[in-house]
Amino acid sequence: MKYRALIRDCPLGELNTWGSGGRCLWLAAPSSVAEALSLIAEAREEGTRLYLLGGGSNVLVQDGLLSAGVISTSALTSIKLTEAGGAMAAEVEAGLPVRRLLALSMEKNLGGLAFLTGIPGTVGGALHGNAGADGESFAPLVDGIETISRDGALRVWSREELRWSYRASPWSEDPLMITKAWLRLPFDDKDNIIKNIRYFAELKKGQPIGAKTAGCVFKNPPGASAGRLLDNCGCKELAVGGAVISPRHANFIENRGGASSRNIYDLAEICRKRVFERYGITLEYEVKFFGTF
Ligand code: EPU
Repeated sequence: MKYRALIRDCPLGELNTWGSGGRCLWLAAPSSVAEALSLIAEAREEGTRLYLLGGGSNVLVQDGLLSAGVISTSALTSIKLTEAGGAMAAEVEAGLPVRRLLALSMEKNLGGLAFLTGIPGTVGGALHGNAGADGESFAPLVDGIETISRDGALRVWSREELRWSYRASPWSEDPLMITKAWLRLPFDDKDNIIKNIRYFAELKKGQPIGAKTAGCVFKNPPGASAGRLLDNCGCKELAVGGAVISPRHANFIENRGGASSRNIYDLAEICRKRVFERYGITLEYEVKFFGTF
């Protein structure tokens, strides 16, 4: 691998919000789509498995050596705004932190983004997992998304081609990397934006803000809250090593210090089993796995 901004044998613990996991073969942060394309082509030639890392707020990285390269979107953070047809068109690179987009929406009086309040990570990550709150998400705002497929092809998905559903990516086969998205943001009144941000902040009050977590571990099953089911099964404060089910919200696992990814996974599986035994429901993971568990 000849790539310049490349760190070999890179520890991933500091690059994810759980603060757990081992090292990867290399980590690279391309600063343009062209660099990303050549990096992916090179890795393909070498037969190196690849993972894509955004803000690291929804991933569980295996302990020890992850025998793969990791591409970070941290150097792809530009945003271009153009006023068009009574709305603001925004071309946003995937690595832009969600909180920066939210701050910009306040500054420029742009509506539709208050759902991002309290959501960590990057725009690319939020699009990939269709992050949201209270039924709101990026979906109605997205005009198109540019991606690179696992075989290294650049593609633009139009609004009509994107199939949004709850906490799932909008395409049938996941591409390797989201590079940018085009958003259409309606103008809104500042007071209304602030009111909406307060509303979404209020929804997060029962969550363990400030603790080392990866947000909700499991998706909500249809018609139910995974957090409530886990709570009903007595999961709060169960622990494996330094991994503890949050006493505030049972769908969050806190790393209270020194938890390995194995500890976190084992704890999640214990809780998942409890829910299955009591309710016959198999909870589906919302977090993404880097490596094998
Ligand atoms: N509840 C309990 N015990 C718990 C947790 C929740 O009884 O330990 C109850 C609550 O009292 C409430 C109900 O379950 O009556 C629903 O809880 P909450 O309002 O916290 O919502 P949620 O369904 O658990 C979802 C999203 C969150 C999002 C919030 C707010 C999922 C998996 N979770 O949580 O998203 O922030 O709504 O809109 O969709 C995430 O995806 O990472 C995430 C944090």
